[in-house]
Amino acid sequence: MSEKHDVGGVTTTGHVWDDDLGDFTNQPPKWWMLGLAASAIWVVVYWLYYPGIPFSMSGTHFKGLGGWTAIAEMEADKGVVDEVRGKYEAKLKDMTPAAILADSELTEYVTRSGKVLFGDNCAACHGTNGVGVVGKEGLFAPILNDDDWLYGGKIDDIHTTIQGGRQGMMMAHKDMLTDAEVDALANAVAAGTPTATPLFAEKGCIACHGEDGKGIQAMGSANLTDQVWRFDGSVEGIKYTILNGVNAGMPGTRVAVMPAFQGVKLSDAEIKKLAVYVYKFGGGQADEVAAAPAAEEAAPVEAAQ
Ligand code: HEC
Ligand code: HEC
Repeated sequence: MSEKHDVGGVTTTGHVWDDDLGDFTNQPPKWWMLGLAASAIWVVVYWLYYPGIPFSMSGTHFKGLGGWTAIAEMEADKGVVDEVRGKYEAKLKDMTPAAILADSELTEYVTRSGKVLFGDNCAACHGTNGVGVVGKEGLFAPILNDDDWLYGGKIDDIHTTIQGGRQGMMMAHKDMLTDAEVDALANAVAAGTPTATPLFAEKGCIACHGEDGKGIQAMGSANLTDQVWRFDGSVEGIKYTILNGVNAGMPGTRVAVMPAFQGVKLSDAEIKKLAVYVYKFGGGQADEVAAAPAAEEAAPVEAAQ
């Protein structure tokens, strides 16, 4: 098996498979050999040019003949980035969030850095891109990418929320209601029709949630008619909220604290960026003033069809 054969003037390695398949001892093609030699030379050049050798006579590492360092390259790139960013940052300084939103180029710039800021400062509570994080008692913090807002979804509302933080308060009703009353209220609220029971008005719920039960933005009181739940939305969960309140300052109460960021953790510019970024999630509410001309424009198109 291992003896060498001569097939058509070319020798074989002597290795035979399946009784009749042999290996020629042909040289690889010339272009391939040249490529091999060239890459061998390239390795040496590359190795000497860059700081690739982990030791040297001076006891540290070989610095390379080209003098290249990763830090220097990064600094150079950063210089270019800073120059571009500097222009935007200077512009942003004196603009209101609403003005930034009206400028599509700035909005795009701001949204990009907003994404990073949101990931670092907000996503732990609100989830990546504001999709929400579910905790033991329902959502850990409100979803921000829908059009349901406790404190308003206009750009200035969102900006104010991030600057100063928010903390809705609902007292515990443990000692104010009978079991039957809690039952009736929880069932009406769970069905999305809180005003179906006269207790909703009689027991003072309307003072905070409004006569229609749709919530009052200034208080951050939830809309109880939209079936969007921050805490557990089952009848049992709603009973718990009614009995123990929200931020009511006693053990067992539901907790909902949005920390303030202004001057504490973020600069004014960063807060503006975040306001625009959150608004851009898709759930932001346009100002009526800005929305009106758009509605007028739409009318002739309809008439033309
Ligand atoms: C420690 C958790 C936590 C962090 C961190 C946090 N939030 Fe909040 N956020 C909350 C809670 C809780 C609420 C609801 C407060 C309430 O119900 O009164 C809230 C409310 C909000 C609201 C109002 C939502 C509405 O429906 O009106 C916005 C906007 C918001 N947060 C944005 C942010 C942004 C932007 C950041 C990052 C800079 C951030 N939050 C960081 C917990 C957090
Ligand atoms: C002092 C004001 C106040 C009163 C009075 C009040 N609430 Fe609330 N309630 C709030 C606030 C503020 C929230 C929102 C808390 C948050 O998400 O930060 C809330 C939240 C709720 C929730 C939770 C909604 C959700 O999305 O999970 C329910 C249910 C509720 N209230 C029912 C009632 C009922 C029923 C009454 C009357 C017995 C009542 N509330 C009285 C302020 C009040």
